[in-house]
Amino acid sequence: MFRKMSKEIDLSRRNGSSDEHNKKPSIRSSYSWIFCAVLIGGVSWFSYQGYLETRVNSPLDENKVIFPVSPDFPERYWGSFRPGVYFGMKTREPQSLLAGLMWFMPDITSGGNLNLRHLCDQGDNLEQYGWREHDGKNFGVQVIVDQFIQLETTFVTKLGGNHGGDWTARIHVEPRMKDLAGKKVTLFFYLTLDDNGKGLFQPIRMIDNMDVSNLNSSNSVKYLGLFAVHGHTEKLGDFRVSFHHTDEQSIVHTAYLSTNVASPNLVKDVLQSGLRLMEDKKSKERHISLAGALFPKEDTIKQPNFVVHQVTGKLPFQLEVVYESNNFVERDTMLRGETYDFLLQTYRKEFRNQFETKFRLAEKGYSDEEQEFAMSALSNLVGGIGYFYGSSKVQSVHNKEPVPYWNAPLYTAVPSRSFFPRGFLWDEGFHNLIISQWDREISFDIMAHWFDLMNVEGWIPREQILGSEARAHVPEEFVVQRNNQGNPPTFFLVLDTMFKNRRVRDISTLELEQLNRLWPRLVCWYNWFNTSLHGPEPGSYYWKGRETASIRELNPKSLSSGLDDYPRASHPSSEERHLDLRCWIALAAKVMASLADIIGRDGRKYREAFAFLSDNELLNKQHWSPTSKRYADFGYHSTNVTLRRPKANPGQPRPDKIRVVIEEPSLRFVDDTFGYVSLFPLITEILEPGSPQLGQLLTDLRNTNLLWTKYGLRSLSKSSPLYNQRNTEHDPPYWRGPIWININYLVARALHHYSKIDGPHQVRATLLYNELRENLITNILREYQKTGYIWEQYNDSTGAGQGCRPFTGWSSLVLLLMSETYV
Ligand SMILES: *[C@@H]1O[C@H](CO)[C@@H](O)[C@H](O)[C@H]1NC(C)=O
Ligand SMILES: *[C@@H]1O[C@H](CO)[C@@H](O)[C@H](O)[C@H]1NC(C)=O
Ligand SMILES: *[C@@H]1O[C@H](CO)[C@@H](O)[C@H](O)[C@H]1NC(C)=O
Ligand SMILES: *[C@@H]1O[C@H](CO)[C@@H](O)[C@H](O)[C@H]1NC(C)=O
Repeated sequence: MFRKMSKEIDLSRRNGSSDEHNKKPSIRSSYSWIFCAVLIGGVSWFSYQGYLETRVNSPLDENKVIFPVSPDFPERYWGSFRPGVYFGMKTREPQSLLAGLMWFMPDITSGGNLNLRHLCDQGDNLEQYGWREHDGKNFGVQVIVDQFIQLETTFVTKLGGNHGGDWTARIHVEPRMKDLAGKKVTLFFYLTLDDNGKGLFQPIRMIDNMDVSNLNSSNSVKYLGLFAVHGHTEKLGDFRVSFHHTDEQSIVHTAYLSTNVASPNLVKDVLQSGLRLMEDKKSKERHISLAGALFPKEDTIKQPNFVVHQVTGKLPFQLEVVYESNNFVERDTMLRGETYDFLLQTYRKEFRNQFETKFRLAEKGYSDEEQEFAMSALSNLVGGIGYFYGSSKVQSVHNKEPVPYWNAPLYTAVPSRSFFPRGFLWDEGFHNLIISQWDREISFDIMAHWFDLMNVEGWIPREQILGSEARAHVPEEFVVQRNNQGNPPTFFLVLDTMFKNRRVRDISTLELEQLNRLWPRLVCWYNWFNTSLHGPEPGSYYWKGRETASIRELNPKSLSSGLDDYPRASHPSSEERHLDLRCWIALAAKVMASLADIIGRDGRKYREAFAFLSDNELLNKQHWSPTSKRYADFGYHSTNVTLRRPKANPGQPRPDKIRVVIEEPSLRFVDDTFGYVSLFPLITEILEPGSPQLGQLLTDLRNTNLLWTKYGLRSLSKSSPLYNQRNTEHDPPYWRGPIWININYLVARALHHYSKIDGPHQVRATLLYNELRENLITNILREYQKTGYIWEQYNDSTGAGQGCRPFTGWSSLVLLLMSETYV
């Protein structure tokens, strides 16, 4: 213990938090023993202070759970791990080679604006895009419906050699309306390196590769593009990327760019600044064209780290990009044309077979169209898995300024490719309820990465903004993660579904090994929740990080609960008890106990904790409001607060509305509020089947004046005072009415559970289950057909999709509702 502490003190000095230590010499100049004592006391105090400061960004001293990737390069080495771009490829390495696509329609540009497509951007207003099929390993098929054109981007990876093997990407463009055939589209396919990546690119121009004597002038204009790029990075060794146009007749112009870019965030800007208007000398046709090799004047070495191939073609046409590792020696034919078709078709067929084996939607009688929808929900989630590398910024109460976390990789799915293309801790549990049904290995790999981000305190930063590509999306104020803020520990849901009802002898040795490596981290995680979020009484817990002195918020948000603005006690205090958190911890204890049994550890503590936290009598004492007959939070609460605008001083701008407390708060149940939080004893299935409270809850659930709608359960009952209210003038309601699919899925799952257990509420649970499930599926599907997307949330009065799109994070749980996978 002492050794460990001194190690961390050293770290604090290196990190420069040693202002205090600098005071030592002046004190040391005195010889008095009193000063010596003060010195020792002072130094230990300052050292202790330094120790506290460094805890927040010191990694947990346990074995890492992730297995190192190289040198034997598994199947998931190359992939579409850049969820934030419409199409891109990278490896699971820091400083990876990055490949990506941009496009525009030269005939449609207006006022100099090319409307160049690159990052998934809601502002582009694409009618639809997303992976239709993607197995997370070998291939993907994506359809992108832009205004006038439809692009199909597919890729296939192929193992071979010791440097990660090959891949090919194919971009096929066609017009959406017949009369657009022959119109021009420009594709840019680029290669660059991720943050601080080092490598060599040597562009080979088409013209270098031809017998120039045969070229006439119109041809030489046409072939300004790249034939290939030869390259080298330390991890990939030598490689070659070649560009192929399947139908030369359709190609009207090609060009290239070879230059430097300071960060992958800037590729679009740099590309645009490398565009010129060029005139074909013979045909007099003008092309918006890349300008070739461009380097800043002062750069004499001319080592490009950004190369782009441009092809402008007449619709329809197709580009194939073939990446080949030089280390792959046994390759027979190049992975393009028919060879590519064959391999892609093989993978697609296998994907569809697997999909039916795992989810049985055809067997359940779903139409082809409904199956395609479900397949795209899965595929866009799996195809949205990214690989990030970098460090978060974190802060504890002991730090004056945010400090960097350590550099680390994160392999994770993302909630939304356009709006949230990065990792979110509590979303990830829901994502992996689905992914673990598809591929347990991928889920384990994802969890391993997340758990390796745990610090010595057992805390995991809840939002992961790693690398400049991820950071470019996030306003500075949201970047810093605070170590008193957790997030619901949803990975316990995943571990529960993965191992519930499995006999030990049916679990693979690899998974057992992984569970063993995971165990110490689960113990620390559980402890973090159990200690740092504990309230004053046994069994009471509350989310930290609510702002106590907030004057503009109607109800101070609790972002760490995941339910952001869901109303809690009006006056945050350490006396409050959050029902959802208590239930999450009960669930965690249950799962810990059963995992302990599987890997032969002592799970007594957790079994006892679960028995304690699921004891219905204690639960009712701490969270059941006898007057309103519902489960609720408890705390300093006023049922009458409002936002009012203070009088403006003459000549001053209109002041923001501030909160006015009309009735003084008192310690009480927050039982004027009914919504998702009230459902947690049901959701976590800790209510006994015969519980009268369960009966009451089921009655309330079906009440259309409360939560029930034709489209699913709304987040906050219509009767709650804050239903659909803004939290500040500028903060629209978020978890105060709209229908969210993650919680709806958990409710459906719990109803399904109670429908299978004998008891007085069994029949009602069955009826409610069937109806809720049907309502959810019907609405999400209808909105998808109407709008082309799966959405972040759904309007509780119309069912319309709202918030951001595509949101194929937890809204993809519609797949598990269709397949009735609740395990
Ligand atoms: C020059 O190229 C054009 C277009 O490919 C072709 O039609 C023409 O015959 C060529 N002329 C000569 C002299 O090779
Ligand atoms: C959780 O915290 C309580 C109160 O501090 C403690 O009594 C209990 O042993 C802890 N549970 C576990 C499983 O560590
Ligand atoms: C809140 O207080 C105001 C002023 O006393 C009163 O008019 C209003 O009805 C109260 N609202 C509630 C929900 O109690
Ligand atoms: C839901 O739809 C209704 C009716 O169109 C609209 O008035 C309301 O503002 C919508 N809710 C949200 C949160 O957008």
